[in-house]
Amino acid sequence: MLIFAVESSCDETSLCLMKSNGEVLSHKIASQEIHNNFGGVVPELASRSHLLNLQSLYKKCLTESGINPRDIDIFCSTCGPGLIGCLLVGSTFVKSLSIGFQKPFYAINHLEAHILSPTINNKIIFPYLCLLLTGGHTQIYLVNGVDNYSLLGETKDDALGEAFDKVAKLLNLPYPGGPAIEEIAKNGSIKSVSLPHPLEKSNTLDFSFSGIKTAVNLYVKNNIINQKIKNNIAASFQHKVTEILKHKITLCFNKFNNVKIEQLAIVGGVGSNKYIFAELKKMCSNNNVEIILPPKDMFSDNAAMIAWTCIQKLSLKNFQEGLHFKNDPRLRVGIKK
Ligand code: KG4
Ligand code: ZN
Repeated sequence: MLIFAVESSCDETSLCLMKSNGEVLSHKIASQEIHNNFGGVVPELASRSHLLNLQSLYKKCLTESGINPRDIDIFCSTCGPGLIGCLLVGSTFVKSLSIGFQKPFYAINHLEAHILSPTINNKIIFPYLCLLLTGGHTQIYLVNGVDNYSLLGETKDDALGEAFDKVAKLLNLPYPGGPAIEEIAKNGSIKSVSLPHPLEKSNTLDFSFSGIKTAVNLYVKNNIINQKIKNNIAASFQHKVTEILKHKITLCFNKFNNVKIEQLAIVGGVGSNKYIFAELKKMCSNNNVEIILPPKDMFSDNAAMIAWTCIQKLSLKNFQEGLHFKNDPRLRVGIKK
């Protein structure tokens, strides 16, 4: 069986042709550089870029895989959460193909696709803990199985990726800020700038990152900033948010001491941060928990995770065709429409 998927929820246009066994026949990801000068994603420009990219990438996908589009069995695309214009462009493109070729269309939840992304390349032991770290969401789930997720905690203000991007902006670093902060943090000292640890004394599994961002803002305003200081701010920020993640995961281990959790998945764009990974890995190996990650090209937004999620859900009774699914910018995991 052949699945064609599109991801267009934010500023990456991605297409994937995948076999039902997970074999990727073609996978394209186009990052939109048009936003670089604005320090963040401009929704209208993102929608227009998706429209341009989709047409050429679709042709490339077919040529590279040698697939005739008539042989595609299933069409799917991200239908939320995300920027509404971007979701509409991507899903309308794929819905049109599905109508034209008279094949089913399925609507996929972007967050669920991140959550299931490490199940393509790891031997999974349910239930696993999932730390979902993207530009728009910071959440912890207990993943009991496909379509069976318990949300344990989430950010009450900024998402972690958003905090990386905002701190990067304060330091005049390019967008997206995460990779830029990770790079300069290598030359900085982790304890040189004192930053708060919000909710440190609380047992909640929720997060709050806006106070750290504000503390960085104040530090930048009150000090003369040179490259060395920028490196120190980046290292201290990255270290502090890692401490927060470690704290929350420790709370999870304590909370679920009756449930055998053997794996922690780290997914989403921020999940590719090597410092965060190394620190969580140390902590997890002390608790006999394995860290599982998606393949390298499935951390940031990509269509392979959309195709894979569709494949995982096809055998579920409640997974129905979604031609009339209404794109939802705030779609939550586990909520059906
Ligand atoms: O999952 P993703 O590609 O898109 C969303 O679904 O939001 O995540 C994008 C976020 C951005 O905020 C970006 O700065 C962050 O992931 N990011 C990183 C790294 N690479 C990407 N944050 C920290 N370290 C990185 N290496
Ligand atoms: Zn994402």
